[in-house]
Amino acid sequence: MYYPTRRMRRLRKNKIIRDSLNEAKLSKEKFIYPLFLTHGENKKTPINSLPGLYHFSPDKVVEEVQEALDVGINKFLIFGGALKEEKDNTGKEAANPEGIVPKALKNIKREFGDEIVLFADVCLCPYTEHGHCGIVDYDTGKILNDPTLPMLAKAAITYAVAGADWVAPSDMMDGRVKVIREALDKEGMEDISILSYSVKYASAYYGPFRDAVDSAPQFGDRSTYQMDYRNIRQAVQEVILDEQEGADAVMVKPALAYLDIIKTVRQTTNLPVAAYNVSGEYAMVKFGAQHGIFDERRITIENLTAISRAGADWIITYHAKEVLQKGWL
Ligand code: PBG
Ligand code: ZN
Repeated sequence: MYYPTRRMRRLRKNKIIRDSLNEAKLSKEKFIYPLFLTHGENKKTPINSLPGLYHFSPDKVVEEVQEALDVGINKFLIFGGALKEEKDNTGKEAANPEGIVPKALKNIKREFGDEIVLFADVCLCPYTEHGHCGIVDYDTGKILNDPTLPMLAKAAITYAVAGADWVAPSDMMDGRVKVIREALDKEGMEDISILSYSVKYASAYYGPFRDAVDSAPQFGDRSTYQMDYRNIRQAVQEVILDEQEGADAVMVKPALAYLDIIKTVRQTTNLPVAAYNVSGEYAMVKFGAQHGIFDERRITIENLTAISRAGADWIITYHAKEVLQKGWL
């Protein structure tokens, strides 16, 4: 019988040794918790496609922030939306200072100040009648790049004024980081940071999210602006460009099917790297666990650890609050 002389198992023999060799320590400081807003007052309504998550009205969201803060979550990513009658081709409701996002940002900041850091998603798709992330030329069906930039900048300014510490453009229009940076600086908001969704793939994993914010494209898909998942070199290029344009941190999205991308981006830039553990990834875990096909605690921690191991500094995840409330870390 073969007698191994090199035995890796000696490094896994007991918990003390295993814990001391942990390369991917998960901690609550890494988490960014997304929050979904809705219109109205005193509203907390479950999101069917995302079990355990809710839509909050701009007053009610303060309670959710408090609950998360109670277990140590201090970073939040805010998503809004528009009523059908507010939507148009330009998505201008995204930049309405009276919209639900600015309202919520103000309420949260008033309550928690610098105890928390607020990220505001900047995109037009929840505000456009066609559900695309940019303005559409209806004659050609093209999603227009340059004409979209001023509206994104306007939205970013609106959120920064309302209390966002970071703006996070997720539209994938070229040049938006530069345009947003210049607009912020021009308004004297040089302390507001930009987390760019630099590497955002056109992905089926966004399904439950689009359901939640009613942002599914009404025609075509997002493949002329979001990245093609067959490619990795373009991910490097997107990161280099966003760094040049002035991003303070970059993001890879989705996360779990894209761990190779996270790792590559980690090696490409010295900026902080965020990974977005997206709605479809969350929903698979939730619905799978509901059907008893795996242990929810173990699979959740395994997923989040993998994202950390790949090199993410920050993990944007819908699991954040539950993981901490249940003491899963
Ligand atoms: C909008 C946006 C999307 C997500 C974040 N911002 C969806 C999309 O591009 O269609 C996805 C988040 C998730 O699936 O959890 N630009
Ligand atoms: Zn969008």
